[in-house]
Amino acid sequence: MLVALLPGDGIGPEVIVQAKRVLDAVCGDALRYEEAPVGGAAHKAEGHPLPPATLDLARRADAILFGAVGDPDCDGLERHLRPEQAILGLRKELTLFANLRPATLFPELADASALRPEVAKAIDMVIVRELNGDVYFGEKGMRTSASGRRQGYDVMSYDEDEVARIAHVGFQTARARRGKLCSVDKANVLETSQLWRDVVIEVAADYPDIELSHMYVDNAAMQLVRNPGQFDVIVTGNLFGDILSDQASMCAGSIGMLPSASLDADQKGLYEPIHGSAPDIAGQGKANPLATILSAAMMLRYSLGKAAEADRIEAAVAKALAAGHRTADLGGSVTTEQMGDAVLAAL
Ligand code: NAD
Ligand code: IPM
Ligand code: MN
Repeated sequence: MLVALLPGDGIGPEVIVQAKRVLDAVCGDALRYEEAPVGGAAHKAEGHPLPPATLDLARRADAILFGAVGDPDCDGLERHLRPEQAILGLRKELTLFANLRPATLFPELADASALRPEVAKAIDMVIVRELNGDVYFGEKGMRTSASGRRQGYDVMSYDEDEVARIAHVGFQTARARRGKLCSVDKANVLETSQLWRDVVIEVAADYPDIELSHMYVDNAAMQLVRNPGQFDVIVTGNLFGDILSDQASMCAGSIGMLPSASLDADQKGLYEPIHGSAPDIAGQGKANPLATILSAAMMLRYSLGKAAEADRIEAAVAKALAAGHRTADLGGSVTTEQMGDAVLAAL
């Protein structure tokens, strides 16, 4: 099986190295790897954030392990050349519409949570984020208004098929867990969200065993810190899911802990930590590699049929945390590589 390694920018390469060490320890020769540049690194080397050869590798591979993209030096580039376009392009080109972002509190990290430990310890949810539509992919631009002012615009829209296919993923994810699905929208204000809610209710007819609720996104942001234990599965749009998952990560200890899977209809997937390239700590050995190591475990489970190996990695991460290893984001002083060492030792 071929794994595409796309390290990207900033801390991306640093965390990918550790995930690769863990994969080597668990899978040995069962996996082959090919690496390609992506993001700002690809723009510097080849003039485009998602070069054709990188996209081709992503298409050929059985699964993709992605670090992060984003480089402040690229902020002045035209938007279509910026590093972030690489991850958006991969998600769109490969129809990776279902982004699963599990947020679970490792009990050892109760003190690292931004919430009180007794509130944090109940966190065990999956955010199912739609990844191919919404304001991300609508018409956008800069124009001059009738009164001569500069105006920026980004059109938010979903069509019913896009909502229905992610709703099915939400219901099925809930069915495999505690049977509760909360659909998050802003239907009190947005037409996009009204359609979202209508379609989710229609799809619910196929899942009478699932307890469906609806919540406005502002309330959801509040409930996530008030009582995160109430959530089993959240299904939501691209933008709301982006924001709520960063928030959920801090409830679960750190943004450096949350993995993700971005899947198409056939479980082909791209796996990446939810965090970005963290330019503020890049090159300093401070990055927490566990989100990427846990993403590699998701890759084994969802795309490569290696559930036992995935279980081993997750257990080793828990053991490394139980042994007291903490990177700076978790209040410790262990380096990126030492955290990798700790997971390997636990394995
Ligand atoms: P970020 O997630 O990169 O960093 C936010 C904060 O969290 C920073 O203080 C950073 O040091 C910290 N952090 C992030 N990951 C960490 C880790 N593994 N260990 C310890 N600390 C960690 O978000 P940002 O600063 O808003 O964005 C930086 C760049 O990354 C931007 O160019 C942005 O567009 C990009 N980005 C890319 C992705 C992606 O590739 N999928 C995701 C988010 C942001
Ligand atoms: C993420 C990131 C991306 C997003 C950016 C870099 C395009 O924030 O993967 O969460 O907004 O989806
Ligand atoms: Mn994000």
